[in-house]
Amino acid sequence: MIFQNNTSLFKLINHFEETESTNDLAKNSKNNFNEVFITEFQTKGRGRLTRSWFSPKGENLYFSLKLIIENNNEIYHSLFISSVAIYEILKNIYNINCEIKWPNDLLIDNKKVCGILSETVFGERNILIVGIGINCNTIDFPDEIKNIAVSIANKIGKIDKTKLFTEILENFEKNYNFYKKNGFDYILSKWIEYSQIVNRHIITTVNGIKQTVKVVKVDNDGYIYVDIDNKILKIISGDIEYVDSINN
Ligand code: BTN
Repeated sequence: MIFQNNTSLFKLINHFEETESTNDLAKNSKNNFNEVFITEFQTKGRGRLTRSWFSPKGENLYFSLKLIIENNNEIYHSLFISSVAIYEILKNIYNINCEIKWPNDLLIDNKKVCGILSETVFGERNILIVGIGINCNTIDFPDEIKNIAVSIANKIGKIDKTKLFTEILENFEKNYNFYKKNGFDYILSKWIEYSQIVNRHIITTVNGIKQTVKVVKVDNDGYIYVDIDNKILKIISGDIEYVDSINN
């Protein structure tokens, strides 16, 4: 399989027929430049919060962007750039109504089509790994996830995943370059628009208790704030669920 690289941000696209996890390939690379690792099949695909990531052979996209970062803010910001870039391609090129769910999942009809797992390696140069899984052509998901997972094929029929990969890389580069030149504000404003999260009710765990709360704002770094009994609380990590879905 030939993966086209029309970007100058990534010097190399490393393609593997099979691997445990593309995030591990990226972590172990000693190359001193930005690069991408992509595979057809992961035997130990990982998700956030120690979950596994469903990675059947040849059906979907499993890839990791390895970025050398100059400033620690870029870690969090790059995740937002990724979800914005993927959202724009699904919406504008494939005409799919999707939404971004904080921090950076993508949903179609309230089910997950794309997940992002970030990892960092701090050393002489600091490295950010943005691991991206996109359900492209799977039609039937295993029972355990069939109520929470969806593919692009489920919505619009099978697609050319190699083409989608190229489109996403190019749009990531475009947004990333814009961010490097102009800062995070515009990316964040797009993310807020695509997620429509402000004023929305979400379910999240606060002090060990699952509760429904209202999102009141997103700060300049992309953290969300919720209203709990008239107290404003910042949500730093974890999982949220949307209570109400939007119609975009
Ligand atoms: C999540 O939503 O929980 C994150 C899922 C991330 C999956 C991708 S697939 C490519 C990369 N390699 C992994 O092992 N995980 C990420």
